[in-house]
Parts: sequence; C-alpha cells; structure tokens
Amino acid sequence: MKPQPSAYRFVVLEGCEGSGKTTQFKRIQAKYPHATFFREPGGTEFAEKEMRRLLLSSPYSPDLTPYECMGLFFTGRSHNLRTFVAPARAKNVPVFTDRFDGSSFAYQLYGMGGGDGLLGHFESSRSAMGPAELLPTLYIYLDVSPEVGMARVKQRAADRGEVNHFDTRGPEFHARVRDGYHAFAKLYPDKVVTVNAEQSVERVWADIEAVLDRHFA
Ligand code: TYD
Repeated sequence: MKPQPSAYRFVVLEGCEGSGKTTQFKRIQAKYPHATFFREPGGTEFAEKEMRRLLLSSPYSPDLTPYECMGLFFTGRSHNLRTFVAPARAKNVPVFTDRFDGSSFAYQLYGMGGGDGLLGHFESSRSAMGPAELLPTLYIYLDVSPEVGMARVKQRAADRGEVNHFDTRGPEFHARVRDGYHAFAKLYPDKVVTVNAEQSVERVWADIEAVLDRHFA
C-alpha cells in the first residue's frame, strides 16, 4: 500500500538478539523501495565508520558504562535524525530504521543495568536531539525469548562468524534486554506494536506487513 503523500511515517524495527530483525528489515526495504533506510549503530558515514567501531569493536567498548554507551549511541542517532529523517520528512518520504532509541532503553537501562538513574538522561537525550515531530511514529518490536534468540545467534555465528560483545553476554543480560523492551512498550503504548518473533519467518512477516499496512492506511 502506498503511504499518504502528506502523512509523515517514521518506523523503527526493534528486537533482541536473534529476533530475525535483519531478515525482516530486508523485506521492508523490498516493500517500500522509495523510502529512506538506515540502521543503528551506524547510518551516516560518520556513524557507520566511527560510532560502530567505538561501540562494537574497539577493545575499550566492553568496558564502557551504560551512561557512556548511551551518550555515544545518542550522538550517532542525532546525526541520523538530521541527515536522514529531517530531509525525508520535508519530502514526505517514509523512513525506516533497524534499531533506534528503543535499543538504548532496552540495552543500556535494562541489559547493562543503567536503571532508573539513566531514565532522565534517556528522556532528555530523546527530546534534545531534535524536534519532537521528527520522532518515530511507530516501533515494531520483535519479541523472542533469550533461549530461542541465543540459539539463533549461535547458529549465525557458526554460519557467518558474526558476533559482537553484546551477543556474547550471558542469558541474564538478554533476559533483562527483553524486560527492557516490554517496559518500553508499556511506556509508549500507542507507538509500540509487539510481534511474536518465535513464529516462522513467513508468519512474522505476515504480522509485520499487517501492522505496516494499517500504519500507512
Ligand atoms: P549489530 O551488529 O548492528 O546487530 P543487530 O542489530 O542485528 O543486533 O549490533 C548492534 C548491537 O548494539 C546490538 O547488540 C544492540 C546494541 N545497541 C545498544 O546496546 N544500544 C543502542 O542504542 C543500539 C542502537 C544498539
């Protein structure tokens, strides 16, 4: 279905490790070939080259505190907001991203244990990075248990050798991340739609497509 020309749509795909996010994001790209797409961490050249290295593969990244990590994630995010989202909104082009601030809420506040002490920082960073009307209009959260998610990550690592220091944290970390996403969905109930990502790829896609069609109707 084509988006309404005058209606701004900024959709975020969120999920725990092994939720199948990357596969589903590619389907979204195929469904909306004229939209703007980015991912986090990453997006702009600066964020792809510098922020991803700092956050995922520098020898120092596993030692960063939740506060330090969150500041860096929001720096890349602000860069994405002004580079991709603002111009797309001006042209009425829909925007999609693989991860956004829901990830900071789930990973830094819950997974890494930043907790309530970081909530104010999260909220102020969210409102300081740009005008409120640029913020996402919808989050699709792919929900998967740590057991199923981590089994998929192990399989992916065996197939492609792709892991980062968040992937290799213990099951308690991933259970906390999931709790974080559930809390995020409660905090923004009119923005977050949860999809059961333990279903087959086809069923997950059917659910996502139905949510998107409603959002773009
Ligand atoms: P990445 O290699 O991009 O893969 P995927 O999105 O498929 O998991 O990994 C990004 C990692 O960064 C992921 O483990 C989640 C984490 N992350 C945060 O901790 N906070 C954030 O704000 C974002 C955007 C990502």
